[in-house]
Formats: sequence, C-alpha cells, structure tokens
Amino acid sequence: MTTTEIPPVDATTALAERLLEAVTSSLELAAVHLGSELGWYRALAEAPATAPELAGRTGTAPRYAREWLEQQAVAGILTVDDVTAGPDERRYALPEAHRPVLVDQDDLAFMPPFAHAALVFTRNVPRLLEVYRTGGGLSWAEMGDARDAQAAANRSYFLGPMASQDLASVPGIDQALRAGGRVADVGCGMGWSAIGIARAYPQARVDGFDVDEPSVEQARRNAEAAGVADRVRFTTVDAAAAGEEAGYHLVTAFECVHDLADPVDVLAGMRRMVRPGGTVLVVDEKVAERFTAPGDTVERLMYGYSVTCCLPDGLSTRPSAGTGTVMRPATLEGYAREAGFAGVDVLPVEHDFFRFYRLRGKA
Ligand SMILES: C[S@@+](CC[C@H](N)C(=O)[O-])C[C@H]1O[C@@H](n2cnc3c(N)ncnc32)[C@H](O)[C@@H]1O
Repeated sequence: MTTTEIPPVDATTALAERLLEAVTSSLELAAVHLGSELGWYRALAEAPATAPELAGRTGTAPRYAREWLEQQAVAGILTVDDVTAGPDERRYALPEAHRPVLVDQDDLAFMPPFAHAALVFTRNVPRLLEVYRTGGGLSWAEMGDARDAQAAANRSYFLGPMASQDLASVPGIDQALRAGGRVADVGCGMGWSAIGIARAYPQARVDGFDVDEPSVEQARRNAEAAGVADRVRFTTVDAAAAGEEAGYHLVTAFECVHDLADPVDVLAGMRRMVRPGGTVLVVDEKVAERFTAPGDTVERLMYGYSVTCCLPDGLSTRPSAGTGTVMRPATLEGYAREAGFAGVDVLPVEHDFFRFYRLRGKA
C-alpha cells in the first residue's frame, strides 16, 4: 500500500491562508449588514423568496438582490431550493436556526450590531492612520454611528439576563433593588442597561449619566418607548461631575471604564454617589489577567476593538490614562485604589465577555 504524504503547511502559507479567510469573513460581515439594514433577512424570515420577489417585497433593486442571495447561499447563511434553476427562479430561505442570529433583536445570539460595529470601526482606518502617526485620538462622537452599534450590541443582554439573572444573583444588590432602591448608571449610552434594571425591578428608580448628548436623547426616547420613563431619568454630564449626586444603593458602569480619559476621577465620583452599605459595580471586558501571546478569541476580539476604537477614543481627551479595551483586573484595581476604594472583588457572574467587579469601600 502506498500513502501520499501531505507536506506540512508551513507557517508562511498558514498565515497567508488565515488572512485570506479573514478578508472573506470581513466581506461577509458587510453583506450581513446590507441584508439586515435592507430588511432582507426579515422578509426571508416571513417567507422564502426568489430575487425578484425579495426585491419586490422590500422595495430594493432586483439585480442586487440576486447577487446578495447568491452570495448568502454560497456563504451557507441561506439555503436555496434548486441550484440548477435559473438565477431569477431559484428560491432562497432563511434556516430557522439562523433566525435568532439575524432577525430576532431580543435574542442574545443577534449579531448584526456586531457586524455594524466592525464596519464602523474599520471605516475609521484612514483617520486612524493619521492619529497613529501624530499620537492624537478619535472621539466617540467623531465615530458617528458607533454609538448605535454599541447600544444595539448590548441591548438584548441588558434587557434580558443582565438584571433579571446576573444582578439578581448578587444578594446585596437584589435586596436593595427589590425594596425600591436608587441606581446610578454611569456612561449609560443609549440607556438599555438603565431600562433593563428598571424593568427587572419595578420599584427601583434609575438615573443614567453620559457625556454624549445624542446618546442621552436616544436613551430618553428608549425609556419612553419601554414605558419606564417615569422611573428612569437621563442626564448629559461628565460622569466625574455626576458624583455631586449621592445616596444611590447601586452605582454601575457598564463597558465604559476602559474608555474613560480619567477613570480615577470617574470612579472617585462613583464612590461619592453611593450611599453607605451600597454597591459600586464595574462591568468590563473579561480579558486575561496578564498579557499572553498568542491570545484566545476573546483577547483577539478585545485587542481588535482596542486598536480600532477604544484606545483612539480614550486618547481623544487629554490628559488621558490611555487604557484601551484590554483593561486587566490589576489595572482596574489600581484605578480603584487611587480613587479611594479599598480594593476590588470579582463577582461569580458567568459571562463569556464581561467580568463583574465590585469595588470595596474603606472600612
Ligand atoms: C462603549 S460606550 C458604553 C455605553 C453603555 N454603557 C453600553 O454598555 O452600551 C462608553 C460610553 O461612555 C461614555 N463616556 C465616556 N466618557 C465619559 C464621561 N467622562 N462621562 C460620562 N460618560 C462618558 C460615552 O459617551 C459612551 O456612551
């Protein structure tokens, strides 16, 4: 018997192949964004369609619909009934298992906002070339619809298990909020975390603070639409100054401390805001405890966000801590101690991407 030896793929070829695969994936992400924004996935979730039918139902151009449908089927995202049929006769369908990922915005698996975020961040690369040379920054406001992608990406978690399961699993927090506690949500963005807490705890009152006016305006509209505007209030303010308000049972900062130019100042503000016996909670990226290379997929994702978005955002205000997305537990502990806390505990909340930190007050 003879065997054919397959030569080992050398490292050069392996890297070239990996990057080519990444190019394909990034183009597929752009196609996912097109399908989501044009309402094509929603239309296909209602009923399978040929290219002319899809274009007719969504008011879009048939030739583009045809190319996109073919691309989606080739990518394995849609199925096609008969590959041998003519281009305008083939009928395409969205498999039931793909519906949560592409259509159901309340599902934790809903991915279009992440595709949107990747496109927003990579769209900024020409500006990044400039700031990488000069050492400048690119603010959240300058990134345009980054705020929309960010809010949509966290929406299903914030309205779902974040409050009803994860906050509820922390006895001190659950008790205080059930009893009608007050919550301050710092760096609240478009308000979904504040709204999620208000919905899970019908007696609680929540104040959201963010420096970005368009986010705060949208947060108010979101609270109104969610029917909680009577208990959820949003204010445009630098979070360091929000610390003038006090007496909160819970003060939170979701996925924003690593973006802050002056995290110590903001954490000190949060310390002033919390009432004695209350809780200060920072929820931030679940990165490795120390730098290791190569890193796992979470670490790769977070460094991807950092080089394209969070570090340039953090450096857009000076002076700046320049933290970046990869804020390790020891870094947060350092900021917390400088802000007057006694230390930081990691809470036993299971999440693939977030770590829950409780900041301990001084005895
Ligand atoms: C990555 S977004 C996170 C938003 C939201 N918490 C979420 O998880 O979707 C960071 C937020 O921090 C806000 N931010 C940055 N610096 C701030 C400051 N000094 N005071 C208040 N908000 C700030 C930004 O405007 C932005 O809305």
